[in-house]
Parts: sequence; C-alpha cells; structure tokens
Amino acid sequence: MSDTTTIRWEQDQDGVVTLVLDDPTQSVNTMNEAFTADFEAVVERLAGLASSDALRGVVITSGKKTFFAGGDLRMLSAARPEDAEAVFEKSMRIKRSLRKLETLGKPVVAAVNGSALGGGLEIALACHHRIALNTPASRIGLPEVTLGLLPGGGGVVRTVRLFGITDALLKYLLQGRQYRPAQALEHGLVHELVDSTEELTARAKAWIEANPTAVQPWDVKGYKIPGGTPATPAFAANLPAFPANLRKQLNGAPYPAPRNVLAAAVESAQVDVDTAMVIEARYFTELACGQTSKNMIQALFFDMQAVNSGAGRPKGVEKRPVRKVAVLGAGMMGAGIAYACAKAGIEVVLKDVSVEAAERGKAYSEGLLNKAIARGRSTEAKRDDLLARITPTSETSDLAGCDAVIEAVFENTELKHKVFKEIEGVVAPDALLCSNTSTLPIGVLAEGVQRTGDFIGLHFFSPVDKMRLVEIIRGPETGDEALARAFDLVRQIDKTPIVVNDSRGFFTSRVIGQFLNEGVAMVGEGIHPSSIEQAAAQAGYPAKVLSLMDELTLTLPRKIRDEYRLAVEAAGGTWTPHPADAVVDRMVDEFGRPGRSGGAGFYEYGEDGKRGRLWPGLLEHFSREGEVEVPFEDLKERMLFSEALDSVRCLEEGVLTSVADANVGSILGIGFPAWTGGVLQYINGYRGGPAGFAARARELAATYGERFAPPALLERIAAEGRTFTD
Ligand code: NAI
Repeated sequence: MSDTTTIRWEQDQDGVVTLVLDDPTQSVNTMNEAFTADFEAVVERLAGLASSDALRGVVITSGKKTFFAGGDLRMLSAARPEDAEAVFEKSMRIKRSLRKLETLGKPVVAAVNGSALGGGLEIALACHHRIALNTPASRIGLPEVTLGLLPGGGGVVRTVRLFGITDALLKYLLQGRQYRPAQALEHGLVHELVDSTEELTARAKAWIEANPTAVQPWDVKGYKIPGGTPATPAFAANLPAFPANLRKQLNGAPYPAPRNVLAAAVESAQVDVDTAMVIEARYFTELACGQTSKNMIQALFFDMQAVNSGAGRPKGVEKRPVRKVAVLGAGMMGAGIAYACAKAGIEVVLKDVSVEAAERGKAYSEGLLNKAIARGRSTEAKRDDLLARITPTSETSDLAGCDAVIEAVFENTELKHKVFKEIEGVVAPDALLCSNTSTLPIGVLAEGVQRTGDFIGLHFFSPVDKMRLVEIIRGPETGDEALARAFDLVRQIDKTPIVVNDSRGFFTSRVIGQFLNEGVAMVGEGIHPSSIEQAAAQAGYPAKVLSLMDELTLTLPRKIRDEYRLAVEAAGGTWTPHPADAVVDRMVDEFGRPGRSGGAGFYEYGEDGKRGRLWPGLLEHFSREGEVEVPFEDLKERMLFSEALDSVRCLEEGVLTSVADANVGSILGIGFPAWTGGVLQYINGYRGGPAGFAARARELAATYGERFAPPALLERIAAEGRTFTD
C-alpha cells in the first residue's frame, strides 16, 4: 500500500500495479489538491520501478461508481486573475504527471468503470489503452466548454493528436458532447467495451500481457497528426475558415471558451507535445481566471446541483413515486407531457374531448420515437413499450386510480375549473392535482377544486421533450406534501424543478416579459430594428427579441397586460404603462400585424408562414425626427438588466425563494444567456459586483426610465458589499 489517501496502490503477483482512484472525502473523484499531489507521488513511485522487470504494467480504475468526475470546480470557481500563475502551475503538474505516465516504458491501461468526464477522460487519454464498462448511466467526454473552460489536463493536445484538429474540435472540444460507452467505442475514444468489472480487470491485464512495450502514437518517430496541421498546405488553405465559422456560430455572443479551444487546438498542433501542453495550460488559465467560467460553474453546476437535489423540497415528506397519471388535454403541451411521463415508466391516461383528439396526442409520442429510431437512438421494442403505457380516452371514468393529474386544456379559468370538477371524484382520493397554466394565478384556479391543499402549478416549457425545466408554482393554499410530491414527480420524469410562489406570470413568464417589452420599446424609440435584433444576439440570447415576440403573438401579452391592469386598478392600485404598450397597440390596431400566426408582425411572412425580412414600415412609422443615437452597449444591457432587475423584485416579493432557482430557471426556461450564469449571477459577476451593477442601473434609469431603478434589495446587498450568492 502506498501512503497516499486518494489513490490505492494494489500490486498483483504478476507485477501489474492497479491504481484505484478513490478519494475518501468525496462521493466522486476530482482533480483537487490532494489528488494532484497523490498522483504525482504514485507516478514518481512507478517511475522508480519502471526500469525493473518487477513492474509489468499499470491499470488505472476507480473505487467509485463513476471513474472520475473532472476538475475541482470549487477551486476553479475561486480562481482570480491574480491566481493565474498558481492555476497554470496546477494544470502543468497534472500534465507533467500524465506525460511521465505515458512515457514510463510500461503499458498503462485505463479501466473506465463508469463516467469519465473532463479530467477523467484526460487521464484515460494518457493511457495506452482504454477499456470501458458498458453501463447505461456512463458518459464519456470533455464537457469543459459548457462551463466556460477547456480541458486543461492535456485533453486538447491529445484529442488533436489522436483524431486530427477538425475532428477533435467538432466531436469533442467545441460542444463538449458526452458520449455513451458504445458511441465512445465507435469514435475510437475507447478501444474496448466490456459488460462486467471482472471482465474489465481481466481484459486490462490481458492487454498489458500482450503489449509489453506500449507507446503513445505521438511518441513514435515520424508520427503525423491525422488530417494535417497548419504546416500542411491543404490544411492551411482551409484554416482561415475555422475562426470565420466560429464567429458565425457565436454571432457576437461573449463566450471566450470556444475561441480559446480553437486557438489551443491549432497552435498546439504545430509544436512538440511538451510545448503543446504549455500552450494548452496558458489558454486554460485565461479561462479559469476569467468571470465567464465562474458564472457558468455557479449556475450550471452548483446551482443546478442545489435545485435538483431538493433544496426547494419540504423535508420529511415520504417519497411516493407516481404510477399512473391523468393528462387532461392532448394538445401541444398535453401530448408532450404524456410522452415525458410515459418515457419515465409512468402509466398515462391521456384525455381530450374526443378519442380522436386524444389519439392525435398519443401519435405525437409515436412521431418522436420513430425519429429517434431513425437516428439510431431508440428501438422498435422500446417504442412499443412506451406507447403501450399511453391510453388515449375521452371518458372521465378511465381516470380512476390515477395518483396524479396534470391539466393542459386551453388557457381559460372557467374551463379549467370545469375539468377539475369533472375528474376530482374519479381519480385517487389523494391524487396530486396539477395545472400546466402558463399565466393564470394558481390561487384563482384552486377555487375550482375541493382539495386546495393538493393543488399546485406545474409549468412545463415547449417543446416538452427538449426543455428540461419545470416551474413548480405553490399557490396560497398548496400544502407541503403536495409541493414535495410535485417536486418528486418532476425528478421522476428526469426534469429540473424550480419552486416559486404564486404571482402573475410566476417567475419565468413575468421576467421574459421584461425582455420582450424592452425590445419592443426600442422600436418605439425609432431604433433601427436590425440593431435591436443584433443586440439580442450579441448579448447572447438564443432568440432575437422581435422574432420571439412575433412567435408568441402580440395579442397574447396584450391580453395578459390588460387583465393585469384591470386587476391592479380594481385593487385600487396605480397602473404604470410600459413604453412597449403603445407600440404593441399600434402594431395590432393600426397596422394589423399581430405576429406570425396572423401572417404579419415585426417581420414579414411568406404564404408558407416562413419568416422574411423585418417589416420596413417599422422605420417609417416609428422613426423620430433626426438621428437616434443610442449606444449599442446600452441596447444589450437594457435587455439583460430588465430581466435581472425584475428577478431581484421577484426575490424581494417572495415569488422567488432561492437564488439558485432564479439562475437555473432563467437559463433553462427563458433563454437568459448562459455566459452570465443566470439573472442573479449576472449581477454578482457584473464589473464591480452588485454595487457596480446598481450604479449602472441608476445610469440606465436616468436615461431610459424608472423601470431600471435598483430595487431596495439590490441596494442593500450592494451596500453590504456582498453578492446574492454569499
Ligand atoms: P392546445 O390548444 O394545443 O391544447 C389544448 C387541448 O385541450 C386541446 O387538444 C383541446 O381539445 C383540449 N381540451 C379542451 N377542453 C377540454 C376538456 N374539457 N377536456 C379535455 N381536453 C380538453 O394548447 P397548449 O398549447 O397545449 O396549452 C395547454 C395549456 O398549457 C394552457 O393552459 C397553456 O397556457 C399552457 N402552456 C402552454 C405552453 C405553450 O408553449 N403552448 C407552455 C406552457 C404552458
């Protein structure tokens, strides 16, 4: 046994050393300081034995369910620009150890017994041979770019040398794709696949036996990178297209990681392996010490973990998986919800006004599954199995025994009251009662049911099969038990839940409304519509603001706005109009352009419904006398700030109860740009932190209106010198 703590040293009689990665302080292995030091020590020890016959080879495996989880994200998310040399050195320490391992002169085999992501795959890539255990949960890949980083343990250098620059970039580095073991085998990321841990060990030792003098391909004299390098004329001719394509894809959005990945891949291909490692470490360090990776790690790793692990679930409520769910309404949402539930193994009774309508809803699942089969992602047996779980019906009596109900009929309070009244006595007496309303207050809908404590909002996003978020809305009378059960149901169907309190538009619809309003208000200011759309793209939004408004139709937000105004006035409050309101009214009433479904909106649409150019009338009707001089930076920040500020108000009003919910919900649900880390992390990470953000908000308020004035909660956090996450 060695004296290291995170790696067990096991040597058999044949001289094969197995390094079992097993950090006792965590449930997974990561490249934390202890591991880095331990790994250096074991590699030194191996090097000391390398010249003797006593060492025949090395197997690396893990004592955890997963092989290796990756970098130490806590450490990376604390790295500041002044830590650059330390971060660089840490990256080089790992690389030096791995380099020493692959040049030991003895065969080294990775026995990948579970997921190998990021640093885990980087360790495996430094082994001469890679064997993976084929488990359904295993994923293999280099996802660093999705957290604003790049693989800093030799992952860029080695994938480029194994697969060539183009394949390394497209298949592994630029999108951070995670592959199942069978796909990893197909791509050559691993060499063999086995079905049991016994086989894994046996195959690893057999390979060592058969390959006593293993070396990496790039350490063989005369080795050439597949597909060529910038020094190869044919490759060089294509090289300028790489940054141009990337530029086109990013469309100005501020994601530094893909640019650094590209530079590291191309530059590291032109030098020897050791110099290449230094180049990779420099690009890695720049990303690790920058703000974007911190934002993305906070939201997409830490906040995501908090949200999924049940931070918002009431404690002490026993888990009871749902066995049979009633989905009411088999339209776009109901059909998608039925698919998601059936996919998770839940029996679904899908009810609509006619059997034909219910069957159309079921056919939607069939369509999705047939597509998956065509792409090799599913099988006919799996399809038939899933479809057998969906029972289409128009009969209320078929809902008997359902332990949960998800209502997705038209967005109409009376209708929703009516359908709940019909079914409440038929389903299980303690069935969870959920509505997928996107706008109606849960408190008002609850007036239509008997058991108000079991009634809750379960807001799915379209298309349901692709969107991971579900917003759970707790009504004024919803009980803890219902909330816990709704939470568990969302997890049961493998989606990510955020929990919010009842309010108009809840969190997501309310906040995205601010973004839409801001873009529309700019039209009214006479700003060139192309600039508005480009500002949304450059801020990093996946959809441009005016095109999104057209998709949703202008009449829908107008209806919601008018209802809200009446409610505010009825309660004796004062209604403050948004500058967007007048633009929407003129578009609908004066120009007859209600959006895409009406055939005309901010854009023109062809006969086939295809979007054409921005409507030239916008400039003619909304332009003002003289030039409108609004800094482009202001356009981007107005969109981002409008959503971030309203999220602070949601937190202040108790609509949101957690910062993690806000960050995760905004990225997964409403397309708030991932580089920001979500609506509240954006404020945390803004230059100068919350205080800098508040100062900039005051500037925007002075120029564009009081809606940008910092809410009291923001002022308080700024004054205390902390962040929303502290
Ligand atoms: P849809 O119009 O596609 O489907 C509604 C379905 O309900 C239709 O098939 C209709 O025949 C059926 N229906 C009407 N009365 C019924 C009754 N008495 N019993 C059973 N079925 C009945 O509408 P969609 O888009 O699926 O929306 C449904 C609900 O989901 C609405 O409350 C909507 O606000 C909400 N929602 C919609 C989203 C979207 O992106 N479309 C997103 C999130 C929520």
